[in-house]
Amino acid sequence: MSVIKWTEALEIGIESLDVQHRFLIDVINELHLAVKHNEGNEVLLPMIEKLHDYADTHFSEEEELLEKHDFAGKLDHVQEHNEFIAKLDELKRKCESSGEALTIDIRNYLLSWFFHHIKVCDMEYKAFFQQIQVIAK
Ligand SMILES: [Fe+2]
Ligand SMILES: [Fe+2]
Repeated sequence: MSVIKWTEALEIGIESLDVQHRFLIDVINELHLAVKHNEGNEVLLPMIEKLHDYADTHFSEEEELLEKHDFAGKLDHVQEHNEFIAKLDELKRKCESSGEALTIDIRNYLLSWFFHHIKVCDMEYKAFFQQIQVIAK
């Protein structure tokens, strides 16, 4: 069973960003299953790699747009993105050095990321983009 479901309310209105957000939701749901099935690092580490690729692509695309349209909250937003990458690196290092798959920790971190960053912070630039008519209301 999915832990998070995509709804229209999550849509930014920019196709590529929405596809990327959906991808993250898929990974969270996969991680949720991995927790249930007690999967080890052979499953977890490739997922962390996927998340890294996701973060590289998605964050640079968002940040380019925030820069282009001069979004006032850009610096804080970028800082959160950087923290996400640092957290992933930290969790990956811990998994590798202890041999223990920290699946629950990673899932929980991504869930809090989803509820805080995607549902709150990303929606702030969405509102701004609507206001300056970069995207439709
Ligand atoms: Fe985002
Ligand atoms: Fe973001």
